[in-house]
Amino acid sequence: MSSVPEPVSHPSLPVPEGIKTVGRVTADAPLICARNVNVHYGDKHAIREVNIDIARNQVLAMIGPSGCGKSTFLRCINRMNDTIEGARITGNIVLDGQDIYDRRQDVVQLRARIGMVFQKPNPFPKTIYENVAYGPRIHGLAANRVELDEIVTNSLQRAGLWEEVKDRLSSPGTSLSGGQQQRLCIARTIAVNPEVILMDEPCSALDPIATARIEDLIDELRASYAIVIVTHSMQQAARVSQRTAYFHLGDLIEVGETDRIFTNPRHKLTEDYITGRFG
Ligand SMILES: Nc1ncnc2c1ncn2[C@@H]1O[C@H](COP(=O)(O)OP(=O)(O)OP(=O)(O)O)[C@@H](O)[C@H]1O
Ligand SMILES: [Mg+2]
Repeated sequence: MSSVPEPVSHPSLPVPEGIKTVGRVTADAPLICARNVNVHYGDKHAIREVNIDIARNQVLAMIGPSGCGKSTFLRCINRMNDTIEGARITGNIVLDGQDIYDRRQDVVQLRARIGMVFQKPNPFPKTIYENVAYGPRIHGLAANRVELDEIVTNSLQRAGLWEEVKDRLSSPGTSLSGGQQQRLCIARTIAVNPEVILMDEPCSALDPIATARIEDLIDELRASYAIVIVTHSMQQAARVSQRTAYFHLGDLIEVGETDRIFTNPRHKLTEDYITGRFG
């Protein structure tokens, strides 16, 4: 059986009536369309009827108070919630015309197309080289060692880490500083040619200088990927994103252009949050 699901004929479903979201759900040329996404953890209804589009070459920031469902929604996008016992997901998420929850979807392939960078840098217990080479090797992206070396070099260059590690590629990934480890994790993600990079508070364990480097990198990477970043820093959302989504107690309240969300929020809950009255 083919691991590639049949394309569905409705990649851009209409937003159902009656949902609370305000702002433009639809991004320009969406790569991902999420419709009516709900997640339960046992009895806990963690996110409700989330409708949002994610565009190519854009950064979408997801903000909102702790526990509002940002990480839960992010994990839906590359099926990381599949690994959480008791998690149940309903609704549709379509990536470039393919339903990612189709039972024929190969989840390993999906996670190569939709990579993820976590809050705490999590290099494999391997060398710097092997951290980056691992994915291309298991996905068969290099025909020989020369090609693999090229992918590793190129990924480390694009992640802005090459100059710092080129003379120590056989040192353990864990011997790097926190900010370097996070860039190594980004290099590892881009080494398998993803289309989307999901980042869950990627800078919250980093100092301001390392944070600034990652933010610059996000801006550069946007030329090649769709990026979704969860952040507790509204300054960061304003600096790195073109669109912002505000979540509150499991509901997507508002989504729209970042400038507009921060200067002219349409929903009182968004306004209260961005002006520091809530959360
Ligand atoms: N594995 C789990 N099992 C049960 N409940 C969970 C699980 N993960 C999250 N939840 C619950 O789902 C809700 C949403 O959690 P989630 O982690 O998505 O929030 P968040 O917006 O990312 O919060 P934070 O900003 O603190 O990271 C919360 O009420 C949380 O307690
Ligand atoms: Mg979270």
